[in-house]
Amino acid sequence: MVSRTIPVDTFDLVIFGGTGDLARRKILPGLYRRYAAGQMPEAARIIGSARSEIDADGFRAMTREALAEFLPSSRGESETVDGFLKHLDYAQVDVKGDAGWEELKGKLRDGAVRAFYFSVAPSLFGDIAERLKTRGLAHDESRIVVEKPFGHDLATAKALNASLSTYFTEHQIYRIDHYLGKETVQNLMAIRFANLLFEPLWNAQFVDHVQITVAETVGVGGRGSYYDQSGAMRDMVQNHLMQLLCLIAMEPPARFEPDSVRDEKLKVIRALDPVPLADVVRGQYEANGSGKSYLEDAENPRSLTESFIAMKVRISNWRWQGTPFYLRTGKRMRARMSEIVIRFKETPHSIFGPEAGSKSNELTIRLQPNEGIDLRVTIKEPGPGGMRLVDVPLDMTFADALGPDAEEVPEAYERLIMDVIRGNQTLFMRGDEVEAAWAWTDPIIKGWEDAHQRPEPYDSGSAGPEKALELMHRDGRRWREVRA
Ligand code: BG6
Repeated sequence: MVSRTIPVDTFDLVIFGGTGDLARRKILPGLYRRYAAGQMPEAARIIGSARSEIDADGFRAMTREALAEFLPSSRGESETVDGFLKHLDYAQVDVKGDAGWEELKGKLRDGAVRAFYFSVAPSLFGDIAERLKTRGLAHDESRIVVEKPFGHDLATAKALNASLSTYFTEHQIYRIDHYLGKETVQNLMAIRFANLLFEPLWNAQFVDHVQITVAETVGVGGRGSYYDQSGAMRDMVQNHLMQLLCLIAMEPPARFEPDSVRDEKLKVIRALDPVPLADVVRGQYEANGSGKSYLEDAENPRSLTESFIAMKVRISNWRWQGTPFYLRTGKRMRARMSEIVIRFKETPHSIFGPEAGSKSNELTIRLQPNEGIDLRVTIKEPGPGGMRLVDVPLDMTFADALGPDAEEVPEAYERLIMDVIRGNQTLFMRGDEVEAAWAWTDPIIKGWEDAHQRPEPYDSGSAGPEKALELMHRDGRRWREVRA
Protein backbone atom coordinates (compact mmCIF):
# COMPACT_ATOMS: atom_id res chain seq x y z
CA MET A 1 0.00 0.00 0.00
CA VAL A 2 1.41 3.41 -0.83
CA SER A 3 1.75 5.33 2.39
CA ARG A 4 -0.52 8.35 2.59
CA THR A 5 1.28 10.12 5.38
CA ILE A 6 2.04 13.79 5.02
CA PRO A 7 5.44 14.81 3.68
CA VAL A 8 7.94 15.64 6.41
CA ASP A 9 9.91 18.79 6.98
CA THR A 10 13.37 19.48 5.76
CA PHE A 11 15.82 17.06 7.28
CA ASP A 12 19.49 16.11 7.40
CA LEU A 13 19.92 12.39 7.93
CA VAL A 14 23.47 11.27 8.62
CA ILE A 15 24.15 7.56 8.22
CA PHE A 16 27.24 6.40 10.11
CA GLY A 17 28.31 3.18 8.43
CA GLY A 18 26.90 4.70 5.24
CA THR A 19 28.88 2.38 2.99
CA GLY A 20 28.11 -0.74 5.05
CA ASP A 21 25.90 -3.70 4.37
CA LEU A 22 22.77 -2.50 6.16
CA ALA A 23 22.93 0.91 4.49
CA ARG A 24 23.27 -0.67 1.06
CA ARG A 25 20.66 -3.38 1.56
CA LYS A 26 17.99 -1.64 3.56
CA ILE A 27 18.46 2.00 4.53
CA LEU A 28 19.29 3.56 1.16
CA PRO A 29 16.78 1.45 -0.83
CA GLY A 30 14.15 2.31 1.82
CA LEU A 31 14.85 6.01 1.48
CA TYR A 32 14.78 5.73 -2.27
CA ARG A 33 11.33 4.16 -2.15
CA ARG A 34 10.08 7.03 0.00
CA TYR A 35 11.55 9.46 -2.51
CA ALA A 36 9.92 7.63 -5.41
CA ALA A 37 6.58 7.75 -3.57
CA GLY A 38 6.88 11.53 -3.35
CA GLN A 39 7.41 11.46 0.41
CA MET A 40 10.71 13.26 0.57
CA PRO A 41 10.88 17.05 0.66
CA GLU A 42 13.01 18.80 -1.93
CA ALA A 43 15.33 20.06 0.80
CA ALA A 44 15.97 16.65 2.41
CA ARG A 45 19.59 15.60 2.60
CA ILE A 46 21.11 12.20 3.30
CA ILE A 47 24.74 12.31 4.31
CA GLY A 48 26.67 9.07 4.21
CA SER A 49 29.53 8.88 6.64
CA ALA A 50 32.21 6.22 6.98
CA ARG A 51 35.95 5.70 7.00
CA SER A 52 36.00 4.98 3.26
CA GLU A 53 38.04 7.49 1.31
CA ILE A 54 35.37 8.46 -1.16
CA ASP A 55 33.71 11.76 -1.97
CA ALA A 56 30.04 12.59 -2.53
CA ASP A 57 30.21 11.34 -6.12
CA GLY A 58 31.72 8.07 -4.95
CA PHE A 59 28.92 7.68 -2.41
CA ARG A 60 26.32 8.36 -5.08
CA ALA A 61 27.92 5.78 -7.38
CA MET A 62 27.92 3.21 -4.57
CA THR A 63 24.29 4.00 -3.83
CA ARG A 64 23.33 3.64 -7.49
CA GLU A 65 24.86 0.16 -7.47
CA ALA A 66 23.14 -0.74 -4.21
CA LEU A 67 19.76 0.32 -5.59
CA ALA A 68 20.33 -1.76 -8.71
CA GLU A 69 21.23 -4.75 -6.57
CA PHE A 70 18.67 -4.54 -3.80
CA LEU A 71 15.53 -3.07 -5.34
CA PRO A 72 13.15 -5.26 -7.30
CA SER A 73 13.88 -4.85 -11.03
CA SER A 74 10.56 -3.10 -11.65
CA ARG A 75 11.78 -0.27 -9.46
CA GLY A 76 14.71 2.05 -9.73
CA GLU A 77 13.85 3.86 -13.01
CA SER A 78 16.97 5.78 -13.93
CA GLU A 79 15.43 9.26 -13.93
CA THR A 80 14.03 8.78 -10.45
CA VAL A 81 17.34 7.36 -9.26
CA ASP A 82 19.14 10.44 -10.63
CA GLY A 83 16.71 12.65 -8.73
CA PHE A 84 17.24 10.70 -5.51
CA LEU A 85 21.03 10.79 -5.78
CA LYS A 86 20.94 14.60 -5.82
CA HIS A 87 19.88 14.42 -2.16
CA LEU A 88 23.02 12.52 -1.20
CA ASP A 89 26.25 13.85 0.23
CA TYR A 90 29.20 12.25 2.00
CA ALA A 91 31.64 13.04 4.80
CA GLN A 92 34.62 10.88 5.66
CA VAL A 93 34.70 10.65 9.45
CA ASP A 94 36.81 8.75 11.94
CA VAL A 95 34.24 7.92 14.59
CA LYS A 96 36.86 7.05 17.20
CA GLY A 97 39.11 9.99 16.42
CA ASP A 98 39.03 13.67 15.44
CA ALA A 99 39.11 13.57 11.67
CA GLY A 100 36.12 14.62 9.64
CA TRP A 101 33.80 15.88 12.37
CA GLU A 102 34.20 19.57 11.51
CA GLU A 103 33.52 18.85 7.86
CA LEU A 104 30.40 16.89 8.76
CA LYS A 105 29.23 19.67 11.06
CA GLY A 106 29.66 22.15 8.24
CA LYS A 107 27.22 20.17 6.13
CA LEU A 108 24.40 20.32 8.69
CA ARG A 109 21.88 23.07 8.24
CA ASP A 110 20.21 25.21 10.89
CA GLY A 111 16.47 24.74 10.99
CA ALA A 112 16.53 21.20 9.59
CA VAL A 113 15.50 18.12 11.57
CA ARG A 114 18.74 16.28 12.38
CA ALA A 115 18.83 12.52 12.63
CA PHE A 116 21.93 10.37 13.06
CA TYR A 117 21.66 6.71 12.14
CA PHE A 118 24.24 4.50 13.91
CA SER A 119 24.54 1.72 11.37
CA VAL A 120 27.76 0.53 13.00
CA ALA A 121 28.90 -1.98 15.63
CA PRO A 122 27.38 -1.25 19.06
CA SER A 123 30.89 -0.87 20.47
CA LEU A 124 31.04 2.45 18.57
CA PHE A 125 27.72 3.87 19.79
CA GLY A 126 29.25 5.62 22.81
CA ASP A 127 32.08 7.21 20.77
CA ILE A 128 29.68 8.60 18.20
CA ALA A 129 27.15 9.83 20.76
CA GLU A 130 29.87 11.65 22.66
CA ARG A 131 31.33 13.35 19.60
CA LEU A 132 27.96 14.37 18.25
CA LYS A 133 27.14 16.12 21.47
CA THR A 134 30.46 17.57 22.56
CA ARG A 135 31.32 18.84 19.10
CA GLY A 136 27.96 20.52 18.70
CA LEU A 137 26.57 18.44 15.83
CA ALA A 138 23.54 17.31 17.80
CA HIS A 139 21.19 19.63 19.61
CA ASP A 140 18.31 18.95 21.96
CA GLU A 141 15.86 18.00 19.25
CA SER A 142 18.26 15.84 17.23
CA ARG A 143 17.50 12.14 17.02
CA ILE A 144 19.73 9.12 17.04
CA VAL A 145 18.82 5.76 15.59
CA VAL A 146 20.43 2.56 16.85
CA GLU A 147 20.23 -0.95 15.54
CA LYS A 148 20.19 -4.31 17.21
CA PRO A 149 21.98 -6.10 18.72
CA PHE A 150 21.14 -3.75 21.57
CA GLY A 151 23.36 -5.48 24.10
CA HIS A 152 24.36 -9.09 24.53
CA ASP A 153 22.68 -9.45 27.91
CA LEU A 154 21.14 -7.24 30.57
CA ALA A 155 24.46 -5.85 31.80
CA THR A 156 25.67 -4.79 28.34
CA ALA A 157 22.25 -3.39 27.40
CA LYS A 158 22.27 -1.31 30.57
CA ALA A 159 25.76 -0.09 29.81
CA LEU A 160 24.71 0.89 26.28
CA ASN A 161 21.62 2.69 27.54
CA ALA A 162 23.75 4.48 30.10
CA SER A 163 26.32 5.59 27.54
CA LEU A 164 23.66 6.91 25.15
CA SER A 165 21.69 8.61 27.90
CA THR A 166 24.78 10.54 28.98
CA TYR A 167 24.32 12.60 25.84
CA PHE A 168 20.74 12.06 24.68
CA THR A 169 17.36 11.89 26.39
CA GLU A 170 15.03 8.94 25.85
CA HIS A 171 12.79 10.90 23.49
CA GLN A 172 15.78 11.38 21.18
CA ILE A 173 16.77 7.69 21.04
CA TYR A 174 15.14 5.46 18.39
CA ARG A 175 15.96 1.77 18.95
CA ILE A 176 15.03 -0.14 15.83
CA ASP A 177 13.41 -3.53 15.83
CA HIS A 178 12.63 -3.83 12.15
CA TYR A 179 9.78 -6.27 12.86
CA LEU A 180 7.78 -3.37 14.25
CA GLY A 181 8.12 -1.62 10.90
CA LYS A 182 6.61 -4.51 8.99
CA GLU A 183 3.21 -3.62 7.66
CA THR A 184 1.68 -6.91 8.78
CA VAL A 185 3.06 -6.56 12.29
CA GLN A 186 1.37 -3.21 12.61
CA ASN A 187 -1.70 -4.95 11.30
CA LEU A 188 -1.75 -7.07 14.44
CA MET A 189 -2.77 -3.95 16.31
CA ALA A 190 -5.41 -3.06 13.73
CA ILE A 191 -6.87 -6.57 13.84
CA ARG A 192 -7.04 -6.55 17.60
CA PHE A 193 -8.05 -2.99 18.33
CA ALA A 194 -10.09 -1.89 15.32
CA ASN A 195 -12.43 -4.91 15.39
CA LEU A 196 -14.92 -5.71 18.09
CA LEU A 197 -15.07 -9.31 17.02
CA PHE A 198 -11.84 -10.66 18.44
CA GLU A 199 -11.15 -8.70 21.60
CA PRO A 200 -13.87 -10.25 23.83
CA LEU A 201 -12.43 -13.70 23.06
CA TRP A 202 -8.81 -12.65 23.39
CA ASN A 203 -8.03 -14.19 26.77
CA ALA A 204 -7.39 -17.42 28.64
CA GLN A 205 -11.07 -18.20 28.93
CA PHE A 206 -11.39 -18.67 25.18
CA VAL A 207 -7.86 -19.08 23.80
CA ASP A 208 -6.33 -22.53 24.20
CA HIS A 209 -2.86 -21.48 23.14
CA VAL A 210 -0.91 -19.17 20.83
CA GLN A 211 1.86 -20.20 18.41
CA ILE A 212 4.39 -17.77 17.00
CA THR A 213 6.62 -19.14 14.26
CA VAL A 214 9.36 -17.31 12.37
CA ALA A 215 10.94 -19.90 10.10
CA GLU A 216 13.71 -18.96 7.67
CA THR A 217 15.30 -20.93 4.86
CA VAL A 218 18.59 -19.01 4.96
CA GLY A 219 21.52 -20.24 7.02
CA VAL A 220 24.09 -18.15 8.83
CA GLY A 221 26.77 -18.35 6.13
CA GLY A 222 28.51 -15.00 5.70
CA ARG A 223 27.67 -13.74 9.18
CA GLY A 224 28.69 -16.81 11.16
CA SER A 225 31.09 -14.99 13.45
CA TYR A 226 28.40 -12.57 14.66
CA TYR A 227 25.74 -15.24 14.81
CA ASP A 228 27.82 -17.75 16.71
CA GLN A 229 28.14 -15.27 19.59
CA SER A 230 24.44 -14.72 19.51
CA GLY A 231 22.27 -17.69 18.50
CA ALA A 232 18.55 -17.75 17.82
CA MET A 233 17.62 -16.66 21.32
CA ARG A 234 19.55 -13.40 21.19
CA ASP A 235 19.22 -12.83 17.46
CA MET A 236 15.47 -13.39 17.12
CA VAL A 237 13.61 -14.22 20.35
CA GLN A 238 14.82 -11.46 22.65
CA ASN A 239 13.69 -8.86 20.13
CA HIS A 240 11.50 -9.84 17.17
CA LEU A 241 9.50 -12.72 18.67
CA MET A 242 9.20 -10.87 21.95
CA GLN A 243 7.71 -7.89 20.13
CA LEU A 244 5.21 -10.13 18.37
CA LEU A 245 4.27 -11.75 21.65
CA CYS A 246 3.79 -8.34 23.25
CA LEU A 247 1.50 -7.10 20.49
CA ILE A 248 -0.62 -10.24 20.78
CA ALA A 249 -0.71 -10.31 24.57
CA MET A 250 -0.82 -6.67 25.64
CA GLU A 251 -3.84 -4.86 27.03
CA PRO A 252 -5.45 -2.30 24.72
CA PRO A 253 -3.40 0.90 25.01
CA ALA A 254 -5.47 4.02 25.63
CA ARG A 255 -4.10 5.60 22.46
CA PHE A 256 -1.88 4.65 19.58
CA GLU A 257 0.87 6.81 20.98
CA PRO A 258 4.46 5.95 21.88
CA ASP A 259 4.27 5.64 25.64
CA SER A 260 0.74 4.23 25.73
CA VAL A 261 1.80 1.35 23.50
CA ARG A 262 5.22 0.85 25.06
CA ASP A 263 3.86 0.87 28.62
CA GLU A 264 1.51 -1.99 27.72
CA LYS A 265 4.25 -4.01 26.01
CA LEU A 266 6.50 -3.55 29.01
CA LYS A 267 3.81 -4.92 31.33
CA VAL A 268 3.65 -8.10 29.25
CA ILE A 269 7.41 -8.62 29.36
CA ARG A 270 7.41 -8.11 33.12
CA ALA A 271 4.62 -10.68 33.50
CA LEU A 272 6.54 -13.44 31.69
CA ASP A 273 7.35 -16.41 33.89
CA PRO A 274 10.88 -17.78 34.03
CA VAL A 275 11.15 -20.62 31.51
CA PRO A 276 12.45 -23.96 32.85
CA LEU A 277 15.03 -25.74 30.72
CA ALA A 278 12.50 -28.53 30.09
CA ASP A 279 10.34 -26.05 28.15
CA VAL A 280 13.12 -25.05 25.75
CA VAL A 281 14.36 -26.97 22.72
CA ARG A 282 17.46 -25.77 20.93
CA GLY A 283 18.67 -27.05 17.59
CA GLN A 284 21.54 -26.77 15.14
CA TYR A 285 21.11 -27.49 11.43
CA GLU A 286 23.04 -30.24 9.75
CA ALA A 287 24.34 -30.32 6.19
CA ASN A 288 21.91 -31.24 3.50
CA GLY A 289 22.63 -31.49 -0.23
CA SER A 290 24.70 -28.50 -1.26
CA GLY A 291 24.10 -26.60 1.98
CA LYS A 292 26.69 -26.58 4.75
CA SER A 293 26.03 -27.51 8.35
CA TYR A 294 25.73 -24.85 11.03
CA LEU A 295 29.15 -25.81 12.37
CA GLU A 296 30.70 -25.25 8.94
CA ASP A 297 28.82 -21.99 8.37
CA ALA A 298 29.86 -20.72 11.78
CA GLU A 299 33.43 -21.98 11.21
CA ASN A 300 33.38 -23.31 14.73
CA PRO A 301 33.34 -27.12 14.89
CA ARG A 302 32.68 -27.11 18.62
CA SER A 303 29.97 -24.49 18.69
CA LEU A 304 27.09 -24.98 21.13
CA THR A 305 25.12 -22.08 19.66
CA GLU A 306 21.55 -22.73 18.55
CA SER A 307 20.26 -21.93 15.07
CA PHE A 308 16.77 -23.02 16.15
CA ILE A 309 14.79 -22.57 19.30
CA ALA A 310 11.32 -23.55 20.40
CA MET A 311 9.90 -22.74 23.78
CA LYS A 312 6.79 -22.68 25.86
CA VAL A 313 6.17 -19.37 27.54
CA ARG A 314 3.64 -18.47 30.20
CA ILE A 315 2.34 -15.05 31.04
CA SER A 316 1.29 -14.59 34.63
CA ASN A 317 -1.52 -12.10 34.49
CA TRP A 318 -5.31 -12.19 34.58
CA ARG A 319 -5.77 -12.25 30.85
CA TRP A 320 -3.40 -15.09 30.05
CA GLN A 321 -3.11 -17.30 33.11
CA GLY A 322 -3.26 -20.89 31.80
CA THR A 323 -2.82 -20.11 28.09
CA PRO A 324 0.68 -21.01 26.91
CA PHE A 325 2.45 -19.18 24.12
CA TYR A 326 4.68 -21.43 22.02
CA LEU A 327 7.49 -19.64 20.22
CA ARG A 328 9.63 -21.14 17.49
CA THR A 329 12.25 -19.74 15.15
CA GLY A 330 15.08 -21.23 13.15
CA LYS A 331 17.42 -21.02 10.20
CA ARG A 332 17.55 -23.42 7.27
CA MET A 333 14.04 -24.64 7.80
CA ARG A 334 11.70 -26.13 5.23
CA ALA A 335 10.10 -22.84 4.22
CA ARG A 336 10.18 -19.14 4.93
CA MET A 337 7.09 -18.67 7.01
CA SER A 338 6.22 -16.23 9.74
CA GLU A 339 2.86 -16.58 11.31
CA ILE A 340 0.89 -16.34 14.49
CA VAL A 341 -1.81 -18.83 15.32
CA ILE A 342 -4.47 -18.14 17.92
CA ARG A 343 -6.08 -21.46 18.71
CA PHE A 344 -9.45 -21.08 20.41
CA LYS A 345 -10.92 -23.63 22.79
CA GLU A 346 -13.58 -26.10 21.78
CA THR A 347 -17.21 -25.22 22.35
CA PRO A 348 -18.21 -26.15 25.93
CA HIS A 349 -20.76 -28.68 24.71
CA SER A 350 -21.53 -30.13 21.30
CA ILE A 351 -25.25 -30.34 20.55
CA PHE A 352 -24.39 -32.54 17.55
CA GLY A 353 -23.00 -35.41 19.59
CA PRO A 354 -19.54 -36.99 19.47
CA GLU A 355 -20.05 -38.61 16.04
CA ALA A 356 -20.29 -35.17 14.38
CA GLY A 357 -16.70 -34.51 15.39
CA SER A 358 -15.59 -31.50 17.37
CA LYS A 359 -13.55 -28.64 16.05
CA SER A 360 -12.16 -25.46 17.36
CA ASN A 361 -11.64 -22.13 15.69
CA GLU A 362 -8.20 -20.97 14.70
CA LEU A 363 -7.10 -17.51 13.65
CA THR A 364 -3.86 -17.40 11.71
CA ILE A 365 -2.14 -14.14 10.98
CA ARG A 366 0.39 -14.61 8.19
CA LEU A 367 3.16 -12.06 8.53
CA GLN A 368 5.27 -13.15 5.56
CA PRO A 369 5.13 -14.21 2.84
CA ASN A 370 1.60 -14.12 1.42
CA GLU A 371 0.44 -11.69 4.11
CA GLY A 372 -3.10 -12.22 5.24
CA ILE A 373 -5.40 -13.72 7.82
CA ASP A 374 -7.16 -17.01 7.88
CA LEU A 375 -9.96 -17.85 10.29
CA ARG A 376 -10.96 -21.48 10.46
CA VAL A 377 -14.62 -21.99 11.20
CA THR A 378 -16.72 -25.13 11.55
CA ILE A 379 -19.64 -25.79 9.22
CA LYS A 380 -21.81 -28.70 8.24
CA GLU A 381 -20.27 -30.89 5.62
CA PRO A 382 -22.58 -30.54 2.62
CA GLY A 383 -24.71 -33.46 1.47
CA PRO A 384 -26.80 -36.16 3.01
CA GLY A 385 -25.71 -38.40 5.86
CA GLY A 386 -26.60 -36.35 8.89
CA MET A 387 -24.71 -33.63 10.67
CA ARG A 388 -21.01 -34.02 10.06
CA LEU A 389 -18.86 -31.07 10.94
CA VAL A 390 -15.97 -29.85 8.88
CA ASP A 391 -13.36 -27.17 9.28
CA VAL A 392 -13.11 -24.56 6.49
CA PRO A 393 -10.98 -21.47 6.07
CA LEU A 394 -12.24 -17.92 5.78
CA ASP A 395 -9.06 -16.92 4.07
CA MET A 396 -8.15 -13.38 3.22
CA THR A 397 -4.93 -12.69 1.45
CA PHE A 398 -4.31 -8.96 1.76
CA ALA A 399 -3.01 -8.69 -1.80
CA ASP A 400 -6.35 -10.03 -3.11
CA ALA A 401 -8.50 -8.04 -0.75
CA LEU A 402 -6.74 -4.72 -1.11
CA GLY A 403 -6.04 -4.81 -4.83
CA PRO A 404 -2.97 -3.48 -6.64
CA ASP A 405 -1.99 -1.10 -3.82
CA ALA A 406 -1.22 -4.09 -1.62
CA GLU A 407 1.71 -5.03 -3.85
CA GLU A 408 3.33 -1.78 -2.82
CA VAL A 409 3.62 -2.74 0.85
CA PRO A 410 6.29 -0.43 2.28
CA GLU A 411 9.43 -2.07 3.57
CA ALA A 412 9.94 -2.04 7.32
CA TYR A 413 12.91 0.30 7.09
CA GLU A 414 11.28 3.00 5.00
CA ARG A 415 8.42 3.31 7.44
CA LEU A 416 10.72 3.38 10.46
CA ILE A 417 13.20 5.91 9.08
CA MET A 418 10.42 8.29 8.15
CA ASP A 419 8.97 7.88 11.66
CA VAL A 420 12.33 9.04 13.02
CA ILE A 421 12.14 12.16 10.89
CA ARG A 422 8.53 12.77 11.95
CA GLY A 423 9.51 12.24 15.59
CA ASN A 424 7.16 9.32 16.22
CA GLN A 425 8.58 6.72 18.63
CA THR A 426 5.56 4.37 18.73
CA LEU A 427 7.28 1.64 16.72
CA PHE A 428 10.63 1.89 18.52
CA MET A 429 11.75 0.13 21.67
CA ARG A 430 12.15 2.09 24.83
CA GLY A 431 15.23 1.51 26.98
CA ASP A 432 13.28 -0.10 29.85
CA GLU A 433 11.56 -2.44 27.39
CA VAL A 434 14.88 -3.70 26.03
CA GLU A 435 16.25 -4.17 29.52
CA ALA A 436 13.16 -6.07 30.67
CA ALA A 437 13.47 -8.36 27.65
CA TRP A 438 17.08 -9.14 28.58
CA ALA A 439 16.18 -9.61 32.23
CA TRP A 440 13.80 -12.38 31.13
CA THR A 441 16.17 -13.87 28.54
CA ASP A 442 19.39 -13.98 30.58
CA PRO A 443 18.39 -16.72 33.07
CA ILE A 444 17.08 -18.93 30.25
CA ILE A 445 20.42 -18.73 28.46
CA LYS A 446 22.27 -19.24 31.72
CA GLY A 447 20.18 -22.37 32.29
CA TRP A 448 21.50 -24.12 29.20
CA GLU A 449 25.00 -22.72 29.55
CA ASP A 450 25.29 -24.05 33.09
CA ALA A 451 24.02 -27.42 31.88
CA HIS A 452 26.57 -27.35 28.96
CA GLN A 453 23.62 -28.32 26.84
CA ARG A 454 24.26 -29.36 23.23
CA PRO A 455 21.70 -28.23 20.68
CA GLU A 456 19.73 -31.03 18.99
CA PRO A 457 20.79 -31.66 15.40
CA TYR A 458 18.11 -31.14 12.74
CA ASP A 459 18.13 -31.63 9.01
CA SER A 460 18.37 -28.52 6.89
CA GLY A 461 15.07 -28.14 5.11
CA SER A 462 13.07 -29.68 7.96
CA ALA A 463 10.73 -28.28 10.60
CA GLY A 464 13.46 -28.35 13.25
CA PRO A 465 14.39 -31.04 15.77
CA GLU A 466 11.94 -33.80 16.72
CA LYS A 467 12.02 -32.59 20.30
CA ALA A 468 10.37 -29.36 19.24
CA LEU A 469 7.39 -31.36 18.04
CA GLU A 470 7.35 -33.22 21.35
CA LEU A 471 7.23 -29.91 23.23
CA MET A 472 3.72 -29.50 21.83
CA HIS A 473 2.71 -33.16 21.71
CA ARG A 474 3.25 -33.65 25.39
CA ASP A 475 0.59 -30.96 25.96
CA GLY A 476 -1.75 -32.66 23.47
CA ARG A 477 -1.16 -29.92 20.86
CA ARG A 478 0.51 -29.65 17.47
CA TRP A 479 2.48 -27.00 15.65
CA ARG A 480 1.14 -25.71 12.40
CA GLU A 481 3.09 -27.30 9.60
CA VAL A 482 6.04 -25.32 8.26
CA ARG A 483 5.27 -25.10 4.56
CA ALA A 484 5.76 -22.81 1.64
C1 BG6 B 1 17.49 -10.06 11.74
C2 BG6 B 1 18.31 -11.22 12.21
O1 BG6 B 1 17.27 -9.17 12.80
O2 BG6 B 1 16.24 -10.52 11.23
C3 BG6 B 1 18.52 -12.20 11.09
O3 BG6 B 1 19.56 -10.76 12.68
C4 BG6 B 1 17.20 -12.61 10.47
O4 BG6 B 1 19.22 -13.35 11.54
C5 BG6 B 1 16.36 -11.38 10.12
O5 BG6 B 1 17.47 -13.37 9.30
C6 BG6 B 1 14.97 -11.78 9.69
O6 BG6 B 1 14.30 -10.66 9.19
P1 BG6 B 1 13.17 -10.79 8.08
O7 BG6 B 1 12.71 -9.39 7.87
O8 BG6 B 1 13.81 -11.39 6.87
O9 BG6 B 1 12.12 -11.69 8.65
